[in-house]
Amino acid sequence: MENFKDKTVYQIYPRSFCDSNGDGFGDLRGITGKLDYLKDLGVDYLWITPFFRSPQRDNGYDVADYRAIEPVFGTMEDVEELIAEADSRGIGLMFDMVFNHTSTEHEWFQRALAGEEKYQNYYIFKDGTPDQIPTNWESKFGGPAWEYVPSLGKWYLHLFDVTQADLNWENPEVREELKEIIRFWKQKGVKGFRFDVVNLISKPEVFENDYEGDGRRFYTDGRHVHEFLHELVHDTGIAGMVTVGEMSSTSLENCIRYSNPECEELSMAFSFHHLKIDYKDGNKWELMKPDLGKLKELFETWQTGMQQGGGWNAVFWDNHDQPRIVSRLGDDQKYWKESAKMLGAAIHLMRGTPYVYQGDELGMTNAYFTDIAQYRDVESRNYYRILLENGKSEKEALQILGERSRDNGRTPMRWNAEKYAGFLPENASAEPWIEVTSYRKEANAEAQIKDSDSIYSFYRTLIRMRKEYPLISEGNIRFLYQETDGVLAYERYFEKEGEKKLIVLCNLLGEEVRLTLPEAGGKVLLGNYPGAEDAAAADRELTLRPYEVLAIEK
Ligand code: GLC
Repeated sequence: MENFKDKTVYQIYPRSFCDSNGDGFGDLRGITGKLDYLKDLGVDYLWITPFFRSPQRDNGYDVADYRAIEPVFGTMEDVEELIAEADSRGIGLMFDMVFNHTSTEHEWFQRALAGEEKYQNYYIFKDGTPDQIPTNWESKFGGPAWEYVPSLGKWYLHLFDVTQADLNWENPEVREELKEIIRFWKQKGVKGFRFDVVNLISKPEVFENDYEGDGRRFYTDGRHVHEFLHELVHDTGIAGMVTVGEMSSTSLENCIRYSNPECEELSMAFSFHHLKIDYKDGNKWELMKPDLGKLKELFETWQTGMQQGGGWNAVFWDNHDQPRIVSRLGDDQKYWKESAKMLGAAIHLMRGTPYVYQGDELGMTNAYFTDIAQYRDVESRNYYRILLENGKSEKEALQILGERSRDNGRTPMRWNAEKYAGFLPENASAEPWIEVTSYRKEANAEAQIKDSDSIYSFYRTLIRMRKEYPLISEGNIRFLYQETDGVLAYERYFEKEGEKKLIVLCNLLGEEVRLTLPEAGGKVLLGNYPGAEDAAAADRELTLRPYEVLAIEK
């Protein structure tokens, strides 16, 4: 198996990365044009979210043809060029396989609608009358998870949007079709894969109402999920490639199995519990202050649990479904730079493979939209309606979207301080498909590349350190100061006596925190306040400044 432990993955959301032809949408050639930027940053793999043929109801997570390119993103030649150009820079591409569902515009679904039984068996159809919905499950985007097709007298399951019909993985023909898609892209030179919501693929034998929740307990980490994943990976020969599964509402035990090499499933898993610490009663659409104690507990459980079970975490804060971490857990006003750096270090020095989402390395912030007309995301628009129906005022609903909407992470990448932040070519007449955030104009690549104290430069250092220090890429982890409020701290170590250790201290608060170390001494390898690395040795009594991070080699 390829060793990916010292590697860093960078996630690209193509629509918002770089527009090469001036139509307002980012595209594949835009990515190719920025490969040198990514090479300089030091990343090893690019996970590119879906650019396949799609009606774009869910920005490409509704795939209508897995082997064709959506014209707004470019052509197959553009993909081939991107693969070759990335390859020549030693960067591997990971494509995003949306295999839990297809768009209802996919040929399979269309043939199912036209009455072909073979293709009806590709999906989850249930006979019934319009007044008899098969179960009371809810779609993750709001509303019921079933849709009635009058012409067939059947309901179909959609865990996401009504245009995203769930595939029937129990049908071996479906599994064969999906393997062929993997082989197709592998043969084109793709070096890895990300699997979308892949722990939801195995549905129960009997479909029943959920009187405790929204139905997820019946299909999350479902009965055949491990077999299905193993079969997919084994039969397509991708066990040696970098693969990551997006695991929705998963458990530690399952993630160990998903990512322990002995099980031959995936190289690593994304879990999301640490990003729900500001959901009131687990509800994304109810605001609450982040519970930092819970955050620390979750990191400890997952980091040490995966270590004990031989699993491997994908570590991350942001992606195209999350608000920006510096606005969420940091302070994007007074301590913008400090908190963006500290949060980056907290993740990058952990055990697991770090993922940088485009713009994290620049400290990009939330969108701060104030009008529903500024939002594009299907989930945000659905929930805006639902929130109003449930009695929230427009102001309240907008405040909730302001903090929770996925569009916070989807505003265009900020390349420079010029018009539209350099996302469009200079002569373009179109406007970006979604507004460019103007908050924090300093969050732009051009300015930060030149500045050795920038967030970008700090990320470069983090990515380089993972390659230089086996302690970071391979070391064990143990959490420290769990009882000290606001301090996330851990030690990276090897079992052998006398080996050096790395202690990472992160102040999650916007105020000073005092700590007593077990002993003085040690070399500060990294800090986010000027001069931290110049201190000859760390003192035993330590005051961490607001959002300060220190990595001390002992
Ligand atoms: C994943 C994707 C998200 C998408 C959903 C349905 O969570 O990251 O963007 O909406 O799956 O495919």
